[in-house]
Amino acid sequence: HWTMQEFKGKEIARIRSLVGEKGQVIGAVSGGVDSTVAAKLMNEAIGGRFHAVLVDNGLLRQDEAKIVHKTLTKHLGIQLTVVDASQRFLGELKGITDPEQKRKIIGRNFIEVFQEEAHKVEAAAANSPNAGDIEWLLQGTLYPDVIESLSFKGPSQTIKSHHNVGGLPAAMRLKLIEPLRELFKDEVRILGTKLDIPEDLVWRHPFPGPGLAIRVLGEVTESQLRIARQADKIFIDELIANDLYRKTSQAFAALLPVRAVGVMGDKREHGQIISLRAVETTDFMTAVRTHFDIENRTFLDRVSSRITNEVEGITRVLYDITSKPPGTIEME
Ligand code: XMP
Repeated sequence: HWTMQEFKGKEIARIRSLVGEKGQVIGAVSGGVDSTVAAKLMNEAIGGRFHAVLVDNGLLRQDEAKIVHKTLTKHLGIQLTVVDASQRFLGELKGITDPEQKRKIIGRNFIEVFQEEAHKVEAAAANSPNAGDIEWLLQGTLYPDVIESLSFKGPSQTIKSHHNVGGLPAAMRLKLIEPLRELFKDEVRILGTKLDIPEDLVWRHPFPGPGLAIRVLGEVTESQLRIARQADKIFIDELIANDLYRKTSQAFAALLPVRAVGVMGDKREHGQIISLRAVETTDFMTAVRTHFDIENRTFLDRVSSRITNEVEGITRVLYDITSKPPGTIEME
């Protein structure tokens, strides 16, 4: 049974022997724990021969692309390209309200944008005398993902088409490198600490690949995204300020595509509705909503009051108390 320190050393050695003296690796990063830990491990193993790509699909949270860029390049020294493809994604999502269709559009465009970027990185890398072709694709696959893809071959897979880059390696003729495929999430977090990844990133809640597109129900537009971002930021900031962020496994705000009456000043206003979700879970397969206990019993009141006061167009705030199952964690 190995410790994470030993794992780190062994994995770095394995990556080096696999990739060789001149081999190059490309990989998508999201700013989440898994892809960042995988990227940092790669960076320690082969330095500038690892190229990270962040696709900004326009569906990220407030200032997320900027924050991820700063952390990965300035703090972690990873070579990163940010591709701003927001107009492309939002253009393709115009008029689409069905969640499965949103996921398919986002998945397809992600693969296209990533491939285009990979070709650019490859062309630039070809001029470097000390490096060969890009032959490898990094993926931050964890052990539970491996198990899931082995055991769920039936219709359960179509409950929700998970957005990952499964279609990439074949299309690009790249070999897969998956340094985290034997690890559970808690082990990835320990490894992240050993790799000097900042604490707040190591403890970040998961964020789905299709991003805010599945948290803005109905049509995804710039103005709906703006509302969802503002509300989500207030909720998350308050969780952090009240020392509740680490006590919840995942939390977010979703924007519902219906209206309800409210009173703003002395006027009746037909505004939109924000649904808050906070859950506790270890494996994300089952989950219960967070019970904000005695000393935090006014927490949700405070978040609700801030959202209705600060976010234009919101007249009501709900708290989702559904367990998973039968609910899911995301709202869609
Ligand atoms: P659900 O909503 O199915 O979510 O209960 C379980 C966990 O998975 C995350 N999730 C995703 N993660 N791509 C991802 O990388 C996706 O398409 C996706 N859909 C859901 C969700 O945020 C939760 O942590």
